[in-house]
Amino acid sequence: MARVVIFSGAGISAESGLSTFRDTGGLWEKYRIEEICQAGCLSWNRENTLVFYDARRAQLGDVVPNAAHEAIAKLQQRYPKDIAIITQNVDDLFERAGCKDVLHLHGFLPNLRCEKCSSTQAVGYEKQERSLTCKVCSGSLRPDIVFFGDPAPMYQYLYEAMEDCKCLIIIGSSGNVVGMDHFAKSIKHSILNNLEKSSAIDEKVYTKVIYKKATEAIDEIVKDIEFFLKA
Ligand code: APR
Repeated sequence: MARVVIFSGAGISAESGLSTFRDTGGLWEKYRIEEICQAGCLSWNRENTLVFYDARRAQLGDVVPNAAHEAIAKLQQRYPKDIAIITQNVDDLFERAGCKDVLHLHGFLPNLRCEKCSSTQAVGYEKQERSLTCKVCSGSLRPDIVFFGDPAPMYQYLYEAMEDCKCLIIIGSSGNVVGMDHFAKSIKHSILNNLEKSSAIDEKVYTKVIYKKATEAIDEIVKDIEFFLKA
């Protein structure tokens, strides 16, 4: 298993042009979580919820990976067994940069998921055709997004990956949804990179803290990871 875990959130994709959630001007300032991202929304507010994710998908089709995604892809190509990439992001910018086996904790926007059997099917950046049904069981389809209050089956793989982690890198997450501090406490090498302090993160538990844009911090982060891997 990988010795290095690179764990990311919305901040890593911000410079590609995708909004974060909790920064000033973030998505949760413009939209109400309980209307479009909470378990049950698809029952009482289905059309508005689908329209919201159609717009996110269209926007994703218009942006490209940035230097941080690309540097991580190159690093993973150099050390394929040592680097695990885990993200809360539902975008495909890591994959488009060339990353492999990215663990998406909160779903994957270019996919739809069957509400009955959970199989997924790719729609890319297209609108969800409302009459489209599951190819496997004909069940109804929804965006492949983990809403607040939904089960998050991928979390178990995060916990498994953290058992082997000796070097933890956090890029662009406020820590409000997935807290990583408790892992960092017991890991000798850890780096936190955000734009600014977050009230949900105890920066003291990280061995290095970089408050800079991810694209400006990434060279130093990659250098530190390589130093760790070669030691
Ligand atoms: N470079 C580095 N960090 C950045 C940048 C940038 N260019 N821009 C913003 N950030 C940092 C902010 O400082 C903040 O700490 O990214 C973080 C973004 O935090 P959130 O908006 O809360 O995003 P995230 O932690 O990914 O949210 C978690 O919340 O609503 C849900 O499911 C959604 O997966 C998401 C989860």
